[in-house]
Amino acid sequence: MISFVAAVGENNVMGKNNRLPWRLPADARFFKETTLSGSKTMIMGRKTFESLPGVLPGRKHYILTTNKAYRPPDHEDVFVFHSVEEILQKLDPKQEYFVIGGAEIFKLFFPYADRLYITRIYENFDGDTFFPGYDETEWQLVSRREGVIDEKNKYKHTFFVYDRKK
Ligand SMILES: NC(=O)c1ccc[n+]([C@@H]2O[C@H](COP(=O)([O-])OP(=O)(O)OC[C@H]3O[C@@H](n4cnc5c(N)ncnc54)[C@H](OP(=O)(O)O)[C@@H]3O)[C@@H](O)[C@H]2O)c1
Repeated sequence: MISFVAAVGENNVMGKNNRLPWRLPADARFFKETTLSGSKTMIMGRKTFESLPGVLPGRKHYILTTNKAYRPPDHEDVFVFHSVEEILQKLDPKQEYFVIGGAEIFKLFFPYADRLYITRIYENFDGDTFFPGYDETEWQLVSRREGVIDEKNKYKHTFFVYDRKK
């Protein structure tokens, strides 16, 4: 099973200058808990990998790049792939895998996605990367949970889960 994990602001903005446009620790916690479940494997584009503070503990990192010479830091949890098909072949259908972006990789994996974990942040941010448009009628809402606004989490946000309709 393939799940997306994404946080999006107004206008579906996802990133700016290869960073997240916001600081929202509650979403960072949600991301960590989610990706530490199931297969504990995250699929990502080379740019998103390079935007991380480092290798995230306890999870496998599947990195997609066109560059055959690309050598990420040597680490037992980091793997490089050069096509979507090469990744799909590696997946155990009984496990949940997490596509974590960015926009280019979400676009490539949309046809294969079964579930979307979307954190919607109700704020206008300046950005250069946007979650791709998709046919919302193909998805049904499974759950929604309002985020708590506090000193460290200043933006109104909601955690949504959608499953692809059968
Ligand atoms: N808000 C969120 O939830 C979220 C999540 C993730 C990322 N982000 C943000 O999104 C931005 C990065 O997203 P992005 O769309 O620019 O980049 P990206 O999707 O992370 O990575 C793009 C790279 O993936 C590789 N790639 C793309 N298509 C490929 C294919 N068909 N085969 C093999 N490799 C392929 C290429 O790497 P090479 O150039 O090496 O060939 C390409 O440059 C950052 O600002 C980041 O902070 C936000």
